[in-house]
Amino acid sequence: MPAKTLTTLQKLKDKGEKIAMLTCYDATLAHACEEAGIDVLLIGDSLGMVLQGHDSTLPVTVSDIAYHTACVKRGAPGALIVADLPFMAYATLEQTFTSAAQLMRAGAHLVKIEGAAWLAESIRQLAERGAPVCAHLGLTPQAVNVLGGYKVQGRGDEQARQLLEDCVAVAEAGAAMLVLECVPSELAARITQAVSVPVIGIGAGPDTDGQVLVIHDMLGLSLSGRTAKFVRNFMQGEGNIQAALRAYVKAVKNREFPAPEHGFSA
Ligand code: KIV
Repeated sequence: MPAKTLTTLQKLKDKGEKIAMLTCYDATLAHACEEAGIDVLLIGDSLGMVLQGHDSTLPVTVSDIAYHTACVKRGAPGALIVADLPFMAYATLEQTFTSAAQLMRAGAHLVKIEGAAWLAESIRQLAERGAPVCAHLGLTPQAVNVLGGYKVQGRGDEQARQLLEDCVAVAEAGAAMLVLECVPSELAARITQAVSVPVIGIGAGPDTDGQVLVIHDMLGLSLSGRTAKFVRNFMQGEGNIQAALRAYVKAVKNREFPAPEHGFSA
């Protein structure tokens, strides 16, 4: 299988083909994901919740993400790897460079940062220095204490206009891809049309360029016993994890998942 790159993703968007992305934190599942045809592996700071058992992503450190990035890289040497810069690891430009360097050295091809238009300068400077950026907008879990909970973002005309403007601003600053989390489906579709780079949704409806889920969620594993509206358990009807991963790739590529019922209204 040829190694996946940012060019692979851009070609998929340009041809109107969907991108399948999952979080991943270890070598064995990374290998299984690569075999199943997942396009992008994300070492998300969700590892703070699903691996470490915290109730938010805030305790995660750059070293935690670097450790799991190296594990994933060993298991899936041909995968396109995105690694999260965790809470407060990009509060200043100097800190942003140091944190990004640690993750790129561990094997990441892109770093992901959460925020809005205020990220533009960091995105520009990272890209200029050889660290492409995936910008994560909408519900940004690192800001849970500012947002007052894990809530849908971009509802109402004013919030929707602001989110669209923010997405355009980060794309113009040089973001190589966007993740949109918990955004009304119709707004996510407009944002996807408005920017030329790939837009990956989670709780953003069926019309983004691709889909990402936390791997534990799509395998039907949950610490809390709760399942978000935008999650489907791909183990149902499948005999093993490998088959569930293949079913996820097929459902995303065939536009069967996410379906309209996995999205949110404005
Ligand atoms: O940390 C993570 O897993 C993420 C995804 C939910 C997009 O950011």
